[in-house]
Amino acid sequence: MEHYSAIDTVALNETEDGVIIIDQTLLPGRTKTIELTELEDMYEAISSLRVRGAPAIGVAAAMGLYVLMKRHKSVDPASFRAYMSECSRRLCSSRPTAVNLAWALGRMNRAAAAAFASADKKRSGAPEDIREFLLDTLKKEALAIRDEDIDACRKMGEYGLSLIKNGSGILTHCNAGRLATVRYGTATAPMYLAAEKGLDIHVFCDETRPLLQGARLTAFELSEAGIETTLICDNMASSLMKAGRIDIIFVGTDRVAANGDVANKIGTSGVAILAKHYGIPFYVCAPLSSIDPHTPTGDDIVIEQRKSSEVTDLWYSERMAPDNAHFSVYNPAFDVTDNSLVTGIITPKGILRPPYSDAIAGVL
Ligand code: MRU
Repeated sequence: MEHYSAIDTVALNETEDGVIIIDQTLLPGRTKTIELTELEDMYEAISSLRVRGAPAIGVAAAMGLYVLMKRHKSVDPASFRAYMSECSRRLCSSRPTAVNLAWALGRMNRAAAAAFASADKKRSGAPEDIREFLLDTLKKEALAIRDEDIDACRKMGEYGLSLIKNGSGILTHCNAGRLATVRYGTATAPMYLAAEKGLDIHVFCDETRPLLQGARLTAFELSEAGIETTLICDNMASSLMKAGRIDIIFVGTDRVAANGDVANKIGTSGVAILAKHYGIPFYVCAPLSSIDPHTPTGDDIVIEQRKSSEVTDLWYSERMAPDNAHFSVYNPAFDVTDNSLVTGIITPKGILRPPYSDAIAGVL
């Protein structure tokens, strides 16, 4: 198997009737790709985090929808529309917090609606030709979503790089890296560019309980890229901050509300509170697809709750918690960082500063 960095996180297969993803549940031990061709396999891959990270699931859903429509052989427009909405609804329900998923599916559906409208206007063409036209439109839209993601990450990387000084200690939480996007990552893009420029940086990765995206994915990808990387348990961040080892923090996001409140992996808000206490700048990297003007505040963001076994069993050789009628587990996948704790939101169009309501309205 090739080195993981030579493989796109999400891609179409050669015949364009399958989506190929790196199965992230197997990293860092094994680099294995899987091909997704059926709706339920795509749903499972997203909900079980084989493909994860807000931008990557948006791209996977867009490519997945194209593939599903290509495999749906009916030339009847009503059947095409009905199957497309069924697939869109199912894929959209696979994870509720990352707005990129609904955003990407919304774009695909709007592109299809425009293609249908233009075909209707012409009032000509065999049903087979209309189907081909629709599929071509969906493919172009899915590839545009992928290409825009690559471009957005590169631009955020450049803005973020302007904040990094030589010799910096950088903290990040979860994985907002290459594996969470198509290339570069969001929060890691400034780090990759700093390394490319020859800056001396040292990245501290929170392991990110309970699913260990920081340990399994971020520490893996940064150290594989030759960046000096130290893994810490989540509860060690404050001791590093107190010791003066962290100069700046970059994290990703699953959804930024219209007022600048930020949903990201559980534990992010604690990092932001600590950063405020120690006077360390806390930056959120957000492609425009992660900013949701229709969600007024963080209180309006739906937070995904996940299985208790991820906390009690997943990484242990035997259950590491009680199991009785009075015992329960609380396992929210994300939390919301209050906008007052955010130093800046790095977007592909520049770094937004408070007040965020105005800055966000301006950039969108
Ligand atoms: O549950 P995950 O692994 O999908 O959570 C991912 C995160 O919280 C990332 O920080 C976020 O999606 C941004 S990725 C660029």
